[in-house]
Amino acid sequence: MNLSIQIAPKHQNGLILANPVMTASGTFGYGTEENHIFDIQKLGAIVCKGTTLEPRDGNPQPRIVETASGMLNSIGWENIGVEALIREKAPVWAGWQVPVIVNIAGESVDDYAKMAGQLEGVAGISALEVNISCPNVKAGGAEFGADPDSAAEVTSAVRNATSLPMLVKLTPNTANIAGVAMAVAEAGADALTLINTLKGMAIDINKRRPMLGNITGGLSGPAIKPVALYAVYEVAGAVDIPIIGCGGITTASDALEFIMAGASAIQVGTASFPNPRAPLDILEGIEQFLGKEGIEDINELIGIART
Ligand SMILES: Cc1cc2nc3c(=O)[nH]c(=O)nc-3n(C[C@H](O)[C@H](O)[C@H](O)COP(=O)(O)O)c2cc1C
Repeated sequence: MNLSIQIAPKHQNGLILANPVMTASGTFGYGTEENHIFDIQKLGAIVCKGTTLEPRDGNPQPRIVETASGMLNSIGWENIGVEALIREKAPVWAGWQVPVIVNIAGESVDDYAKMAGQLEGVAGISALEVNISCPNVKAGGAEFGADPDSAAEVTSAVRNATSLPMLVKLTPNTANIAGVAMAVAEAGADALTLINTLKGMAIDINKRRPMLGNITGGLSGPAIKPVALYAVYEVAGAVDIPIIGCGGITTASDALEFIMAGASAIQVGTASFPNPRAPLDILEGIEQFLGKEGIEDINELIGIART
């Protein structure tokens, strides 16, 4: 049975994953934490925490609220910064068989380009994932990914600064995700990850105050799965580069829905909190489905639900 997939076919070196199951940024740390209850080398790829130029403490507490069928988070890119990542994490990753993809976040186009430049040639890093759900400080805090032009500007800047395969992670907080996807593909992305969290909030009626210290946060988990699945379906019809599906994937059946909608691979995020084995359970479930259905190659299922 073949589970391997190519997620950067247009890149000079390509990026072949042993299977389509990856971890979603911000939900699996750096993969180096010693609390894993399964062998993470079995996964297709690890996507690390969102990384910024400088170390960040993140947003005020509370930063997590449970909601019906999901959660709101406003972590705010708490991370060790790109220099410490290169010094402390990359050397560990360099000894791994599972590829590590570094998720980068910035407040200006320059931030993204600088980070991509610093990460160039660092052993242990297989690709970059550019998070364009970040507020563009120069544009009054609108997300870079809300608009095709600013999304393409970030993509081109990173493309010019890196020779690594580049995934661009789209935000659902836009009226025109297919337009953004096309602009980003045109600007040199090798693959697209979709989706990031949806903007939301919750209020404590006793305190008469928003529950999150940051007032708003990002909604993730099963609540967003239908939105994410539709985004994948729509974007898969608009671009010819691979799509990595993400959003509420909790079971193998969820993952297979995304693959049938047109995703070449998937990421598991919030599902890892209640079930730390979720990525491996999902991988094993996909294998079982292929075995049961007599399918020899996962690639046969990509986009099969499209007419
Ligand atoms: C606690 C938490 C932290 C996250 N941090 C990041 C991040 O740093 N960068 C990023 O691109 N996405 C981040 N995300 C978004 C996830 O990677 C994913 O796109 C989103 O949660 C939807 O997938 P899910 O429903 O499977 O969690 C974060 C999500 C959560 C829940």
